[in-house]
Amino acid sequence: MLNLTGKNIVLGITGGIAAYKAIILLRQLKAAGAEVQVVITDAAQAFVTPLTLQVLSNHPVHNNLFTPQAQSGIDHIELANWANILLIAPASADFIARIANGLANDLLATLCLATTAPIILAPAMNQNMWLHPATQSNIQILKIRQVQILEPEMGIQACGTVGPGRMLEPEAIMAALASNVTKNTTQDTNRLYSNLDSNLDNLNSNLDNLRPEQSLTNTKVLMTAGPTREPIDPIRYISNRSSGRMGYSLAQALEELGAQVSLISGPCALSVPLSVERLWVETALDMEQAVQTRISDCQIFIATAAVADYRVANPSVQKIKKSLQSSEDTLTLNLIKNPDILAQVASRPNPPFTVGFAAETQDVEAYAKAKLDSKKLSMIAANLVGAGQGFEVTENALLVLWPGGQRNLVKQPKLSLARNLARLIAERYHAQIKS
Ligand code: C5P
Repeated sequence: MLNLTGKNIVLGITGGIAAYKAIILLRQLKAAGAEVQVVITDAAQAFVTPLTLQVLSNHPVHNNLFTPQAQSGIDHIELANWANILLIAPASADFIARIANGLANDLLATLCLATTAPIILAPAMNQNMWLHPATQSNIQILKIRQVQILEPEMGIQACGTVGPGRMLEPEAIMAALASNVTKNTTQDTNRLYSNLDSNLDNLNSNLDNLRPEQSLTNTKVLMTAGPTREPIDPIRYISNRSSGRMGYSLAQALEELGAQVSLISGPCALSVPLSVERLWVETALDMEQAVQTRISDCQIFIATAAVADYRVANPSVQKIKKSLQSSEDTLTLNLIKNPDILAQVASRPNPPFTVGFAAETQDVEAYAKAKLDSKKLSMIAANLVGAGQGFEVTENALLVLWPGGQRNLVKQPKLSLARNLARLIAERYHAQIKS
């Protein structure tokens, strides 16, 4: 179990229904031995009461920027110096926007400016608010400033819709505290947990042990992953069985080689390492647009997504009703072809090193070779799907082809397979640069 004895944590709570989970989180932090002081925004007080938090934290709950009770009269400086970690859960869209812009208009936002401790945010909001470009760009700004973002999960939201935006469960936040903060680069590393320091050392020594042709430091990788959803009407969609696991494992493996990874993901319920930038999309057209806006400064592009080949030509604005009057038993959907995102990237004037995936039910090698040539790819990873292979399983095998070569990666767990594939991608990428 995570041992936080001797650690001072400021738990910031902003306004949102997920604030109730902060109470459980507070208990878990205390149970792990941390000293916790709570800072609550005005809006959060509509969801949880300061008294509950005071009793559980055993400290007065802070809300005001200037308090006569504070020893120096300036609570925010005392708290900022006291904290080893500033954990804000839930972080609302409004709060994220405020700190992305450096505002100091309440105690919690001021603390974010005043502290040198690592800042960790667990966002929680409606999916449209989370996916809104304004929120996503605020998140990017914060990531650049080394704020750790615990990406929200997919799931049923308080408003009844399903999508990304649910705050991570307290257990997952505790787990992230234990492991994922290892890549934190804070101004105040002395105050990081000792186990985080040793994890970071391990990571760095792993990077040191890599042969130069396997390292991807200073390399930007753009990836697609997961399925796409093509709407039929506001309720139904066409999709496929992709779990996203291969792509997410590969993102992690590439990040372990030192790459700077951006993952454009269709809907799935997987988490990424904190340093992987993830952008949620739903349809193939959304995915295409997201790729186009990010591709120009990437050295490697990897398409693991199971993009729907077709979309409904005219999705209905209203739910399509079973026809009560008519006796017809069939419904015809008119489908049109989606753009081939991978082929588009590979045919750019100065294409990045471009890797495709091919999931086939037969003649894997022949189809993969044909795809490598027709899409002008640098590499293709092909696998047999169906009969317990490929989608929705935890193990996989791959046949990897590139112009003039190929390698078999035998059946193994997807993460181990992804690590082998990541090294092969790095080797071929470096070989291509040299030639
Ligand atoms: O032609 P096929 O769909 O089998 O090609 C699979 C590869 O192409 C995968 O890497 C997939 O991510 C990518 N792809 C794409 N856009 C599409 C269809 C497939 O990027 N519309």
